Amino acid sequence: ADVVELPASMGKVTFPHKKHQEMLRDCTKCHEKGPGKIAELGKEWAHRTCKGCHTQLGRGPTACKDCHKK
Ligand code: HEM
Ligand code: HEM
Repeated sequence: ADVVELPASMGKVTFPHKKHQEMLRDCTKCHEKGPGKIAELGKEWAHRTCKGCHTQLGRGPTACKDCHKK
């Protein structure tokens, strides 16, 4: 997928998938069990995985409204 839209009550998150593939070059950062649907995907997973990485690297969005857009 080029861009993945993840619905959320406080506004959908538009995830630039291709950009992350090219930038990270490591599918396992998100796909622990191999490419495809992520069964655990949800608020807890995203805040841990997405926000967690952005916080750790000091790059990428970490504020609510940087990811959630109405
Ligand atoms: C979904 C492959 C890297 C996050 C998918 C899908 C595939 C895939 C085949 C299934 C849905 C679709 O294509 O429409 C890959 C490969 C990667 C990679 C081959 C490495 C080259 C990443 C990385 C992240 C990520 C690094 C996170 C930073 C996601 C998310 C979904 C997804 C959030 C949606 C999952 C769902 O709807 O359950 N990926 N991916 N992927 N990927 Fe990746
Ligand atoms: C940037 C979302 C997971 C590393 C971004 C951006 C968004 C985003 C919206 C801004 C893109 C832009 O400005 O063009 C997400 C979501 C994730 C996720 C929704 C989970 C599904 C991750 C993970 C990592 C990561 C797991 C690291 C392992 C980065 C980095 C940037 C970034 C380094 C900065 C790119 C730059 O400065 O050009 N992310 N991300 N992200 N993300 Fe993520």
